[in-house]
Amino acid sequence: MDSIIIEGGVPLSGKVKISGAKNSCLALMASAILTEAPLNLNNVPKLSDIATMSTLLGSLGLEVQNKDSRSLCLDARNISNRKAHYDIVRKMRASFLVLGPLLAREGYAKVSLPGGCAIGARAVDLHLEALRKLGAKLKLENGYVIASAPSGLIGAEIDFPIKSVGATENAIMAATLAKGRTIIRNAAREPEIGDLIDCLKKMGAEIKGRGSSTIEIEGKHRLNGSTHEVISDRIEFGTYLLAAVITKGKISLTGGQEILNTEFLKKIGEMGVRYKSDSEGLAIDATNTDLQPIKVTTEPYPGFPTDLQAQMMATLTLAKGESEINENIFENRFMHVPELSRMGAKIKLEGTCAMVEGVDHLVGAPVMATDLRASVALVIAGLAAKGETRINRVYHLDRGYENIETKLAQCGAQIKRVQS
Ligand code: UD1
Repeated sequence: MDSIIIEGGVPLSGKVKISGAKNSCLALMASAILTEAPLNLNNVPKLSDIATMSTLLGSLGLEVQNKDSRSLCLDARNISNRKAHYDIVRKMRASFLVLGPLLAREGYAKVSLPGGCAIGARAVDLHLEALRKLGAKLKLENGYVIASAPSGLIGAEIDFPIKSVGATENAIMAATLAKGRTIIRNAAREPEIGDLIDCLKKMGAEIKGRGSSTIEIEGKHRLNGSTHEVISDRIEFGTYLLAAVITKGKISLTGGQEILNTEFLKKIGEMGVRYKSDSEGLAIDATNTDLQPIKVTTEPYPGFPTDLQAQMMATLTLAKGESEINENIFENRFMHVPELSRMGAKIKLEGTCAMVEGVDHLVGAPVMATDLRASVALVIAGLAAKGETRINRVYHLDRGYENIETKLAQCGAQIKRVQS
């Protein structure tokens, strides 16, 4: 298994090109099931989660072709299998996104329940309730959801009690092939959902309300193929930005327009970091910045993203004073705390709240993390720490960060990947 070794203390300096958004691409790939014609996706990130989704779609009978290293062609002319197997779904929760499209296209789908994961219970009740509203009959059997609608789905009103990205995506995709109109209320508004809507509209779907919490879909008998460019990854963008901040560096990020005018960038300003946006992206200058402590609460978009909470916590360990972080989305997303503490961070946990008292410096240490964002938070801490940090279980990073060590090394970081 690979590890990453960092010799900390170098301020980052340079340019980082942000890759295509993992979470957007995963939903877009699932949407290929909705049509018999090929869907071409460009700006596809090279990540193991994308490979997992390709394997899953391949297992359903889709032809998945890499046209080049950044483009995928997904052809669902023949769906030969309507079962998403536990062995794949358990690896990646986003696999559950095939349920809505498969059911809508085939009138039947059997998809393994994703089960718990490191950051919390992460139920799928909202996905199931939305599909039930659209007329699906649902059964749970041996760890699988069996959904059927032999005469097709029927448009309905879906009111989500809480915002869920995945359930909103599953409901939208299913409704594009339902008979009649669907109205989704309290829909999640993440940019990745906007990207999915843009692509579905190019495929011939009739959808109103992009970017709002009420979405109206007029179902179609069939959808066409299309070509679509995946938006850039706002979480990768925020991660590199924080890596520059914690090292008191100066970098330019290209892409990632989705993050402008969000709570995240407001917080970066509150921390005392200077930044400037232009048509290409954003330039950050954290040289000579005395990082100010802040209060952060994770919320659905456009609130502060839970997927940047761990990275922000790592950064705040070096702020001048006490910061407060409230995790409102997932119940168990502080697993980076004991590891950061081993590097000298001072963090007190009380339920869903973490109090982070800034320290003078962090010290490198061997660390291990249990999920994607926690792992990258340790990379960020390692970039600023005195001495060597060794991050084990790198496979978590490869799920969501394309060539992370190359991108950081290009900005001067002393970082390398080794085989343990
Ligand atoms: C997506 C993102 C993930 C991000 C999360 C929140 C993808 C592939 N993943 O995950 O990176 O951290 O949004 O921004 O896009 N919930 C239920 N019942 C459900 C569904 C969700 O109770 O049926 C709860 C979850 O446990 C969580 C909250 O709703 O507390 C939000 O989760 P959700 O938005 O669904 O996250 P995902 O779509 O799984």
